Amino acid sequence: MWSDHKKTENYIKEAYKKNYKLINESYFDVGITSDSIHQADGNFLQLCVINEQPKNILEIGTWVGNSTYCMASASPHVKIHTVDLGKDNFRLKKKYKQCYERIFRNPNTHSTEFLRTTNEKFDFFFNDANLSDEDTNLIFDKSSSSFVFISHDFYRFEGNKYVFCKGHDAAERMIKTALSKKYSFSIYPPNSKWYLPGLIVDKSNNKSINSGCVMIKFKKFDQNLPSNPALLRSLIEVKRFLRFLKYLPKKILNRIS
Ligand SMILES: C[S@@+](CC[C@H](N)C(=O)[O-])C[C@H]1O[C@@H](n2cnc3c(N)ncnc32)[C@H](O)[C@@H]1O
Repeated sequence: MWSDHKKTENYIKEAYKKNYKLINESYFDVGITSDSIHQADGNFLQLCVINEQPKNILEIGTWVGNSTYCMASASPHVKIHTVDLGKDNFRLKKKYKQCYERIFRNPNTHSTEFLRTTNEKFDFFFNDANLSDEDTNLIFDKSSSSFVFISHDFYRFEGNKYVFCKGHDAAERMIKTALSKKYSFSIYPPNSKWYLPGLIVDKSNNKSINSGCVMIKFKKFDQNLPSNPALLRSLIEVKRFLRFLKYLPKKILNRIS
C-alpha cells in the first residue's frame, strides 16, 4: 500500500510529459528557507495543480508561503485559502503580485477552527501541518465528492534510516476517515530514495519532482450504482485494507519504509 511508489513515478512522468512546457514556465524558486518545502516538492505541487486543475485549494501550514506561491503560480484559475496557527509570516513577493488576489491568508487560525467555520468547499488540500481526527473528518465535510489530498513530510531521516513522519500520519487518518465515510481512494506514496534529490524526471535541466509528498485521490461511492463491478472490487479492497490496518503494528510499518 505505502510502497507502491512505481505508481507515483508513472503518474509524475506521464503528467510531466503532458505538461512539461507549463511546468517549466511556471517554475517557482523556493530557495532555502528552514521549515519550508523542498524545491522538488514545490515542483510536485505545481505538477499536480496543472494536471488535476483544482479550483479551490485549502492549504494547512502557510509559514512563509513558499508552497502557497508554488500552487498559485501554477494556475491563474485557482483560489487558495491558507491557514496557520502562528502569526502572519507570509512573504510578499512583488514578482508574484498577480497571485495575491487569489490567496486568502488566515494567520493565527488553527486548522480545526477554520474547517469548523468555513462555508467554502474544496477540491484540493495541501497539508504541511499536524492533523487530528477531527480535522480529517471536517476535511471530508468541506470537500467536493472527489478531491485530491497531498501531505508533505511522508518520511524523515532519523539516525541512519527513514521513518514515517507527519505526512504519513495525516495520510493514515485520511484513509481511516474515508473508510468510515464510504469513499474510495487511490494512494500515490513517495519513495524514500527521492528524499533529498527528488525524483529526477528531466536530466537535461536537472528537473526533480517530489521529494517527500504523498498524494491520495478520494471519491465518494455512488450509492445509486451498487452493482457496478469496479465499485464492488474497490469496496472489497477497502475492507481488506481496513483489516490490514487493524493488525499491522506501527513498528512494522516503519520497518517497511
Ligand atoms: C513546515 S511549516 C509550513 C511550510 C510552508 N508550507 C512553506 O512551504 O513555506 C508548518 C506550519 O504549520 C503550522 N501548523 C502546524 N499545525 C497546524 C494546524 N493544525 N493548523 C494550522 N497551522 C498549523 C505551523 O505554525 C507552521 O507555520
